[in-house]
Amino acid sequence: MTGQDQPAPQQVSDSTAPAQPDQPAQAHSGTLSRRRFMQSVLATGAGLALVPPVWAAAPSAAQAGRAAGANGQINIAMIGAGSQGRILLLDALKIPGIRFRAVADVWDYSRRYAGNILNRFGQPVNVYSDYREMLEKEDDLDAVLIASPDWVHAEQTIACLEAGLDVYCEKEMAHTIEAARSMVEAAKQTGKLLQIGHQRRSNPRYQHARRMIENERILGRITHFQGQWNRARMHEVGWPRNTEIDAAELRRLGFEDMFQFRNWRWFRQFSGGPMSDLGSHQMGVFNWILGRPPRAVLAAGGNDYYERNEWFDHVIAVFEYAGEAGSTIRGTYQVLNTTSHGGYRELLMGDEGTLAISEDPSVGYVQREQQAEPRDWEDDAARVEGMDQRAIALEVGASRRADPQHIEQIESALAKAPHQLHLENFFNTIRDPQRHRLTCPADEAFSVAVTVLKTNEAVEKGARLEFDPAWFRA
Ligand SMILES: NC(=O)c1ccc[n+]([C@@H]2O[C@H](COP(=O)([O-])OP(=O)(O)OC[C@H]3O[C@@H](n4cnc5c(N)ncnc54)[C@H](O)[C@@H]3O)[C@@H](O)[C@H]2O)c1
Repeated sequence: MTGQDQPAPQQVSDSTAPAQPDQPAQAHSGTLSRRRFMQSVLATGAGLALVPPVWAAAPSAAQAGRAAGANGQINIAMIGAGSQGRILLLDALKIPGIRFRAVADVWDYSRRYAGNILNRFGQPVNVYSDYREMLEKEDDLDAVLIASPDWVHAEQTIACLEAGLDVYCEKEMAHTIEAARSMVEAAKQTGKLLQIGHQRRSNPRYQHARRMIENERILGRITHFQGQWNRARMHEVGWPRNTEIDAAELRRLGFEDMFQFRNWRWFRQFSGGPMSDLGSHQMGVFNWILGRPPRAVLAAGGNDYYERNEWFDHVIAVFEYAGEAGSTIRGTYQVLNTTSHGGYRELLMGDEGTLAISEDPSVGYVQREQQAEPRDWEDDAARVEGMDQRAIALEVGASRRADPQHIEQIESALAKAPHQLHLENFFNTIRDPQRHRLTCPADEAFSVAVTVLKTNEAVEKGARLEFDPAWFRA
């Protein structure tokens, strides 16, 4: 079956579905424009390169020297073509040398939708209701993008890896720690690549901030952090009329009804709930920038608002991390699903300054403490309106290291969507594992899964939970 004979995508609109649940808002004017960010990159000499960062994982021996397909073309398939799958699909279509061959989705509506998009972009595909049939029949695939609900990630990822394919699997990598661990093990055993969809790891703004913290020590000694994802009341996710999967098939797939099928992220059998769905993005940033997972967590939460949902509609947690020279870093994280005040962002605080950053590009500044020794580039910095004199909009004046080629590379990276950059990192690593490394390999993403899923456990227990370092080993 092909997607060729299906109606054009715009004829099939899912008007009952809300905007993508964990997509950032549109960029708007704010404190970190592209121009300012460019200046900061250059003036601080942070040397943001679009080659993989040094902290990424090394390629496996089996990957070394592998080139995908003739002419470097990478043949791919997608499993799970819902809201996020379509975003990945459109971003992947922008990347030269990527050729979709197949789409697998249990819902006819999503299959047709994705098939139509691909057809319109000149990449007709075979579509399947069962990904296993796809793996059996498609014999020229190099890689698979998985954007199905969390509870099937492990099964599908492992099947694809064992079929000899490299895999990009969306976050949260799995809804249980055991399932996430089995994915890491499969990647190790097969020697195939497994990138997890924490796209901030490929975002030049986050990479730059991390380097400024490490190399320039703009925050001094980090002592605290705060993270939040506050979003407005959620509407139930619906489905277009006449697209229901019949009751027997839904049960065979593991769902009670269409409501559960569409609102899977609120049910314990299918997801880790908001702490995992949204919290994993941001706790992943803290683990990454602080260079380690947490030592302990104290958390509260509950299902106080939504009657039909199983998961906590909010979690408020206090974490402890090991800091410099035997010190402790404490930080708070909260995810709310009833109010959007303050939006989503991460703050890292040290004795010399605070960094605010978000996937929303309008949020980004460093506020240096009054007593911190001024850096030479601070004089040229633009101030943040309404904040004190030491607040720098990451705008630090004219370049000290103007390298036109470098500027061009960074400019073009900033013009791309975060998911496209993360996909590019995956495809570049498939093509040339000697030069590129995954920015979010499964073993590193695993520590995020442990962090957020154990935080849910801490909420259940209502007690301080100490993380056993062994939990993070996969
Ligand atoms: N990285 C990000 O910023 C980001 C953003 C949103 C969602 N996500 C992740 O993407 C994944 C999908 O989320 P979504 O919002 O698109 O959900 P969704 O419900 O909109 O889409 C899921 C799709 O998977 C299909 N599906 C369900 N069970 C399946 C199965 N067993 N096999 C194949 N297909 C199946 C559904 O029919 C649907 O088309 C989740 O893991 C989610 O956490 C990541």
